[in-house]
Parts: sequence; structure tokens; C-alpha cells
Amino acid sequence: TQAFNGVIAIDGPSGSGKSSVARRLATELGAACLDTGAMYRTATLAVLRSGVHLGDKQTVIKVVETAKVEFGTTPADRYARLDGENVDADIRGDEVTANVSAVSSIPEVRQYLITSQRDIIKAAENGIVVEGRDIGEVVAPDADLKVYLTADPAERARRRSTQNGANLAATAADIKRRDTADAKTTRPHDAAPGAVVLDTTHLDLDQVITALHELITRGGTT
Ligand code: DC
Repeated sequence: TQAFNGVIAIDGPSGSGKSSVARRLATELGAACLDTGAMYRTATLAVLRSGVHLGDKQTVIKVVETAKVEFGTTPADRYARLDGENVDADIRGDEVTANVSAVSSIPEVRQYLITSQRDIIKAAENGIVVEGRDIGEVVAPDADLKVYLTADPAERARRRSTQNGANLAATAADIKRRDTADAKTTRPHDAAPGAVVLDTTHLDLDQVITALHELITRGGTT
């Protein structure tokens, strides 16, 4: 693969394939990758563990701002840690998933996490693939390539339930609920200005990756 040191923003709703795509693309480019959803999830876990009431916004913000978190951005070794403990399983659990939209809707929480995301992006020397909801529009509007991944809701639910072994109907309902909740703070259903829209309903991972490599080459980001 060619040398790469740019920034690639991958946005899209839950189950659109962002994580698998971001990790594989980063691996092939020799770049880092950042899962910003994991940051919102880890912040939510910190809040839940602190026992603070979610309605007590000032305290929630304080917990998020003082939580001791670390994120691994090597594609082969992505991790989220809270107080030194690996929390990859916990942040994908039902409790965090049910509460993450509420925590991520607090503007001060977003501002705090967006600042850390920008710091991580700035520190990435061999390029970085960043996935989330607001990367192309807010976090890294100057990204070299912006991609908006989407897929039919039924297909997104199918992928998610295959991924975590959860019941399909329950997953579909959860995706629908979060699509609606997240739309209040980010725009998970809209592509950022300048973003290339890729509907992955009928594409497998290889096909998406091939399409992205073509876009990178064409855009002159290598
Ligand atoms: O991508 P995910 O399902 O792991 O994201 C978890 C939640 O975090 C999602 O419901 C919305 C929120 N999120 C956000 O508000 N902004 C981002 N850049 C990434 C995630």
C-alpha cells in the first residue's frame, strides 16, 4: 500500500458497517483508527458507574471530564479503558447502549469529547480513519476524504444482531430508537457537505473497501 498520512472521516448510522470498514481501511493504509462511538460509550459507562443521576447534567459533565479513559487507535489493537480497566465488552452492553444517546446529547459532553478527538487526530502521524456521526461535519471538516455509509434499516439490524448475537426484532427496535434519539444532536441521516455517500445495503466489506481505495486514489490523498 502507498504511504498515507491524511484524515478519513466515516460517518453513518448504527449498523451501517462503519467499524469494520474503518478498521480494515486503516489496516490497509497503515493508519490509525478512532471509534468515536466508543468514546461516547465509555463516557456513558463512567456516568453509570458513578451512580450519578442522568438528569443531573452538571455532575454528569464533571464525571465525563474527569474520567480516566484511554483509547487504543492501532487497528489491530483497538481498546477502550476506564480507570485502567479494559471495558470493550461493557461499553457494548445493553445498559450503555440504552443510555448513550442521553449522555451524548449534552453539549458540554460533546465539546469535551470533540476536543479529545481532535487531539488524537492531530497526533496521528501516519494518517487516521475516524468513524462516528459528526466527523465530516464537526470534528474534522477538513478531512481529506469524507464518506457517509448507510444501509437499509432492516439490513443494519441484521448486521448488528449477527455481530452481537442479539435478537433481531429487539435490535431493529433499538436501532430505530437510537436513530431518532441521535438525530436530535447529530445528523446520522445526512451526509456532511462534500461527503461521498455509499449505500452498503447490497455491498459486502470487500466491495466497500475497494470503492474507498478508489476514492482515496482519485482524491489524491495518498
Ligand atoms: O457508533 P456507536 O453505535 O457505537 O455510537 C454510540 C452512540 O454514540 C450513538 O448512539 C450516538 C453517539 N455518537 C455521537 O453522538 N457522535 C459520534 N461521533 C459517535 C457516536
